[in-house]
Amino acid sequence: MKFKLRAGMVGGGKGAFIGAVHRIALNMDGLIELCCGALSQNPEKARESGKELFLPEDRVYDSYEEMIKRESELPEDQRMHFVIIVTPNFAHFEPAMMALEHGFHVMIDKPMTLTLEQARALKAKVDETGLLLGLTHTYSGYPLVKEAKKMVADGKFGAIRKIYVEYPQGWLSQFSEADGNKQAAWRTDPSKSGKAGCMGDIGTHAAHLAEYISGQKIVKLCADLNIVVPGRLLDDDGAMLLKFDKGASGVLVATQVAAGEENNLKIRIYGEKGGLEWNQQEPNTLLVKWLDAPTQVYRTGNGYLSPIAQFNTRTPGGHPEGYLEAFGNIYRNFVLALSAKLNNETPDPLIDYPTVEDGVRGMAFIDNVVASAQSDQKWWDYVV
Ligand SMILES: NC(=O)c1ccc[n+]([C@@H]2O[C@H](COP(=O)([O-])OP(=O)(O)OC[C@H]3O[C@@H](n4cnc5c(N)ncnc54)[C@H](O)[C@@H]3O)[C@@H](O)[C@H]2O)c1
Repeated sequence: MKFKLRAGMVGGGKGAFIGAVHRIALNMDGLIELCCGALSQNPEKARESGKELFLPEDRVYDSYEEMIKRESELPEDQRMHFVIIVTPNFAHFEPAMMALEHGFHVMIDKPMTLTLEQARALKAKVDETGLLLGLTHTYSGYPLVKEAKKMVADGKFGAIRKIYVEYPQGWLSQFSEADGNKQAAWRTDPSKSGKAGCMGDIGTHAAHLAEYISGQKIVKLCADLNIVVPGRLLDDDGAMLLKFDKGASGVLVATQVAAGEENNLKIRIYGEKGGLEWNQQEPNTLLVKWLDAPTQVYRTGNGYLSPIAQFNTRTPGGHPEGYLEAFGNIYRNFVLALSAKLNNETPDPLIDYPTVEDGVRGMAFIDNVVASAQSDQKWWDYVV
């Protein structure tokens, strides 16, 4: 990279969850500077939050509209290069579209928008402008997830037949939205979260991971959604059978009412000759299974891993990396791609990060799951 890239953040003020994680991730490799922000919809809180982050006072804005407008008027060598959007789902589309319309690249959290129509509109704008849009599907940032994807793509297991992905959490086992839990409140409100609750919040991560590692796309599903906690307005639990475009079939389970579970995302994929198993709570281990040989234990940070896994690893084996580094990898890959673009260079072929296409597929996943769960039809044809 020839120079550090500058970013402005929308959301992520005091008390917010994922904005702070984005800041750690973007600072991890010293390639990005957070230069401005519209950190809350409440101007006073936005200013307090900007102060706590030592942002220059004149670049702490009262709204994303002001931030995008004022930044676009600054000289090119001062203004931000890209906008980071870490607001609840209902406040993703407008700032993202406005940023693209003003020539700024975008990094946005998932699910990409509130509706599939908005997602398609963002994709059309990205296609029209040639600007980059990155999406923080965190779990595809882990080195061993990239290793798993490569092993599948290299045909190590033969044709992939079975994909099982499960994502149990327990934090919504009670009616927490009524107890002042702000993260629970917007996630269970259809006007703020979208058509789905659990399936939008974590089901989209599971679906993305399944498609990412297997290299196959979901084409049909048969879904069952439940509202387990009385009074809740959106699904907090669900499961589905899946069919993929290159012949695999599978199962996806996501729940936020598995009391006692933390963030137990796990995926198992099997082909004709063997398979693999990866668990987010033990992310530095990948189990590789063989029909005719003992199971192998792959570990992050070792020389036997492929170049793409090594490219996404910062510490030697036995010095555990985790969620924050996986997030950091998405940022690093995104800004390396962005820097190559700004300097008219060809990006390193190892660079890979979720894009607007993944964002559209995530929103399509939500639409198709909800439609399937509401229909009497056994197999629902997936529309993107
Ligand atoms: N990638 C992941 O693993 C991951 C994990 C958690 C959350 N998320 C996603 O991140 C997003 C935020 O989730 P969260 O849990 O951090 O929510 P949160 O409620 O903790 O934080 C949201 C922040 O956005 C601010 N905000 C709301 N409207 C705004 C506006 N118009 N302008 C400026 N700021 C505004 C709020 O004041 C708050 O600071 C969601 O889309 C969620 O799905 C992703």
